[in-house]
Amino acid sequence: MLNNQAGEEKRASLHGHWSSKMTFILAVTGSAVGLGNIWKFPYVAGQNGGGAFVLVYLICVVVIGMPVMMSEILIGRRGRRNPVAAMELLSKEEGSSRHWRWVGVIGVFAGILILSYYSVIAGWTLGYAVKSASGVFVGASAEAVSAEYQNFVSDWRITGFCHTLFMALTIFFVARGVERGLEQAVRFMVPALLILMLALLGYSINSGYFAQGLSFMFSVPESCMALAPECPLTWDSVLAALGQAFFTLSIGMGCIMAYGAYLPDETSITSTSSAVVIADTGIAILAGLTIFPLVFANGLDPADGPGLVFQTLPLAFGQMAGGIFFSTIFFILLSFAAWTSAIALIEPAVAWVVERFSKTRAQASLLIGILIWFIGFGSVLSFNALANMEFLAGTIFDNVNYLTDKIMLPLAGLLIILFAGWVMSRNSTADELGSTGRLYNFWRLLARFIAPIGILFVLANAIT
Ligand code: TRP
Repeated sequence: MLNNQAGEEKRASLHGHWSSKMTFILAVTGSAVGLGNIWKFPYVAGQNGGGAFVLVYLICVVVIGMPVMMSEILIGRRGRRNPVAAMELLSKEEGSSRHWRWVGVIGVFAGILILSYYSVIAGWTLGYAVKSASGVFVGASAEAVSAEYQNFVSDWRITGFCHTLFMALTIFFVARGVERGLEQAVRFMVPALLILMLALLGYSINSGYFAQGLSFMFSVPESCMALAPECPLTWDSVLAALGQAFFTLSIGMGCIMAYGAYLPDETSITSTSSAVVIADTGIAILAGLTIFPLVFANGLDPADGPGLVFQTLPLAFGQMAGGIFFSTIFFILLSFAAWTSAIALIEPAVAWVVERFSKTRAQASLLIGILIWFIGFGSVLSFNALANMEFLAGTIFDNVNYLTDKIMLPLAGLLIILFAGWVMSRNSTADELGSTGRLYNFWRLLARFIAPIGILFVLANAIT
């Protein structure tokens, strides 16, 4: 994936370059498409009431997510270093404070925290691949599938084992440096996942409840359109939508910045970002369109939470011809999608430890991996032994979620876009974005005013 051209160019990154624009798009899409689209988006949309939340989420993706992603890529490419070092170098170049590097540090910790629970859910997915293969879901009723889910998550030994397995796979490949395999995996996985999702969508359309699902996802109460106080959408839901936009696009933690460091100079940042945003949002919407009709067809509750996907899709597969096969493949593919995201999630921390503490890649991966694995047990136990231990936002899992989605990602995203919009000179950003035309001015308007004010406004309203 990376051609080693380091040293040949003035600003070449230590680690080489992406071989092509398509490779870069694939790698970023591989990090963006994951549990966030298929597992998280439907359950968070369901918990926050559907339509109005989805609308706010889409606005956040376009108005805030897209310019933040462009900013991350341009900072990464200009810095040609890991996020912490890139922020430090650029702030020096632009004559600003070196404290900007703390943005990179927040990103490192956000990655560690996100992966701690991400791996747990990815572990469930692995477990569900095995369950599917065993045929337990064939012809199962909604009650049986829900009971199966409850039994599964309440056994911490099994879910702990799955989490351990997933982390081990992640650490192993990160330690070895994964570039080559990753590109192949993404090239195959995203299209395959898409095909299976489309097949499931076909099933959903025939469920008789498609219209109801559609209306849950897209109809916005009139009071919200009129911004009237009767609108059921709370500020906390608006913040959840903003957090989900950051989470699903993998932005606000320097990951995309780290990838940007390998992007060749001539590649258009605007067109690559658009491609990624469209693919990622499309897959999330597809997942919602598949899942909500099934929720209503089976009398389930859309606000049920993290188990939503694990209770709806097996039901659909269970009634399909060839269900065992497709269901197994689906959960394997989803684990794959999670795995390509996991590798990206751990990368900033590993790169940082390698460069900052002069460890080898293997040592750094093992060290960080074990830390994440350990923290992850907090989330494993949040669904069983510690389910009743609630504080602040709820269980340990809820708190890690809250801290990352609703505080760390928006905060780091805000700082990143302020840096690109205000600290970096017009010359530097125009140089990276390759234009001074109308499109550039639009980005700059979003980056300097609209996105930061939007983020601050949502944070301020939600937290007070
Ligand atoms: N976007 C990923 C998903 O939707 C999750 C994620 C959040 C992520 N931040 C990231 C992945 C950073 C890689 C890097 O599943």
